[in-house]
Amino acid sequence: MDWGMKNRMAQLIQADGHSMWLPVDHGYFQGPTKRLEEPRKTIEPLLPYADALFITRGVLRSSVDPDKAKPIILRVSGGTSMVGKDLANEGITTSMEEAIRLNVAAVGLSIFIGTDYEKESLLNLSKLVDEGEKYGIPVMAVTAVGKEMERRDARYLALCCRIAAELGARVVKTYYCKEDFEKVVRGCPVPVVMAGGPQVETELEVFEFVYDGMQKGAIGVNLGRNIWQNDFPVAMAKAIRAIIHENATPKEAQEIYESVKSGKQR
Ligand code: 5RP
Repeated sequence: MDWGMKNRMAQLIQADGHSMWLPVDHGYFQGPTKRLEEPRKTIEPLLPYADALFITRGVLRSSVDPDKAKPIILRVSGGTSMVGKDLANEGITTSMEEAIRLNVAAVGLSIFIGTDYEKESLLNLSKLVDEGEKYGIPVMAVTAVGKEMERRDARYLALCCRIAAELGARVVKTYYCKEDFEKVVRGCPVPVVMAGGPQVETELEVFEFVYDGMQKGAIGVNLGRNIWQNDFPVAMAKAIRAIIHENATPKEAQEIYESVKSGKQR
């Protein structure tokens, strides 16, 4: 691995081998998503707890100050919307030149395996990897499921993660699944980070799946809505960070959450 690539990966994956990345890219197809209506207000209080931001160029330029930023994973795929025909029909929206201009640590795009646009999205990944490798910029592949959340089983996720790694992604973002998540990670020869998906019922559920996923080999999370759609996003971020970087148990994470929420811990 060349120096630039190594340096960027080291910005993203911390010395303990773990990562807490904060995605705030949802607006690229969902518009002003709940609690991300004004991105700056969502992002600023959470920045101290994130090892990197997953973000589009528009929100990066408008809502993050360059002198206070964290490493950036630039979302470079899109071109679809919630109200359009098919979320899977994405293209590359942002050039590698722009990624370099923005001094990013990585670029990220979605792949849609098993959809009508499987081939296009996989070729998008391959082209992006060719470009990224040329300039030492790692590519993160997001194994997207579109609106079909029931697709999140180990067999499907393992297939997606492995294909992404085979095509050259340096890191893969996927969903956690309760059964056989270790097989998803084992079958993927590059680091795996977990997305969160839509907000779940209780905080403890989030802590439990993040903890379990880490025990089963994920290096961290790229988890958004379950942090910033919570009524106490900083408490969530601190609790999840403790699981990732301090090996806190779900119970300990819950205690951190309660303590920050009640104002006993800042
Ligand atoms: C959208 C994305 C999001 O970044 C991803 O869904 C992670 O965020 P969340 O934890 O809210 O699911 O890639 O396609």
